[in-house]
This record gives sequence, C-alpha cells and structure tokens, in this order.
Amino acid sequence: MIIRQAKRSDIEQIAKVQVSSWNTTYRGILPDELIDSRTVENRIESMKTNWKGFHGDIISRIVIVAETESDEIVGFAAGGDIFQGDYPYDAEGYAFYIIKEYQQKGIGTLLLKELVKFLLSFGFKSMIIWILEENPACKFYEKLGGVAKERKIDKFGEEEFSLVGYVWDNISIII
Ligand SMILES: CC(C)(COP(=O)(O)OP(=O)(O)OC[C@H]1O[C@@H](n2cnc3c(N)ncnc32)[C@H](O)[C@@H]1OP(=O)(O)O)[C@@H](O)C(=O)NCCC(=O)NCCS
Repeated sequence: MIIRQAKRSDIEQIAKVQVSSWNTTYRGILPDELIDSRTVENRIESMKTNWKGFHGDIISRIVIVAETESDEIVGFAAGGDIFQGDYPYDAEGYAFYIIKEYQQKGIGTLLLKELVKFLLSFGFKSMIIWILEENPACKFYEKLGGVAKERKIDKFGEEEFSLVGYVWDNISIII
C-alpha cells in the first residue's frame, strides 16, 4: 500500500471512496435522503470549494491517500486548520474514509500517522476530530490516543445527531 499526499488528478477517485464509504458506514445511522444526496459529482465540487490546500493554494490543509500497487485509491484522510467553530486546538481532522473491503487492515492508522507528520510540519500540535457518537469507528480514535473531550449536536435535515470531538493535546503521540 502506498501512502502519499494527494494530487490534483486524484480528486475523482477520492470522491468515489467517500461516496462508497458513506454508504457502507452511515446507512441506518443517517437518513437515506442525506446519504443518497451525496454523489461523486457533488463531492468533487465540495472538495474543490473546501479543501483549498488540495489545489496548493494554501499549505495548511492536506489530503493523504492510500493507493494500491495497481493505482487504485482505497482510502484518504484530510485535515488542517480548524474548519468550523471556535475550539482551542490547532488542527482538525476533516475526513477519514476507507472503502469497506480495505478497512481494519491498518490503513487508517497509516493515513492518520502520515497526516500527523504533515500537521506537525505546519506547526500544529493539538487536534480535534469530530465523529458521530453512534459510529463504531470511535474506537479507532480511542485506540490512537484520542480523548472524547468535546460534544456537539448537528442537524441533518430535520433530525439531530450527537457528535463527539476526539482531542489530542499533543499529536506527536500518534506517531
Ligand atoms: C475509521 C477508519 C478510517 C479506520 O481505519 P482502519 O484502517 O479500518 O483502521 P485500522 O485497521 O488502522 O485500525 C486501528 C485500530 O482501530 C480499530 N478500529 C478501526 N475501525 C474500527 C471500527 N469501526 N470499530 C471498532 N474498532 C475499529 C481496529 O480494530 C484497530 O484496533 P487494534 O489496534 O486493536 O487492532 C475506517 O475503518 C473507515 O473508513 N471506516 C468507515 C468510515 C468512518 O467511519 N470514518 C470515520 C468518520 S469520522
């Protein structure tokens, strides 16, 4: 497995990973309409808008991909400066998605470690990652030393969902 910084040309494959992983992860947790509204096309548009570092415009946001020997992107991680809200941490992990067949094989750990190396090189020391409280992947962040310090409620459509903010005061413990 190759773990590397994303290139501009990876955007479509990253969007496909996100849509696939959203379907297998959130079906039954989030409303079907919300899951179905996420298409490869609108993910590409969203990434172009929100992940400016992806285009090299600024250096404080970063996307890391996991790619097989046959050039298939099977997972990605994204992070950078705090995306939303006023929190006393330097960085935020925005997205961690791996397609189902490749989960639980250590790839998420590799992606998170590589992301952290970049965040440290940008001068970030602490980090928060938001995750739906119901998502069993909370265990992943706990195993990597995250502490459930923050909570918030997000609205998806009419429904409200609880999110947990996993915090690392010193991200260097991850690597
Ligand atoms: C969450 C995710 C990125 C983790 O990556 P991964 O490659 O599956 O995780 P790893 O294999 O590196 O696992 C590291 C540890 O976390 C545990 N873990 C990972 N995902 C888990 C899950 N869903 N439930 C329980 N434990 C989990 C592993 O068992 C492993 O524990 P161990 O060290 O005792 O063996 C990946 O499973 C994924 O894409 N899940 C679906 C999308 C998602 O929920 N993303 C998070 C959104 S905030």
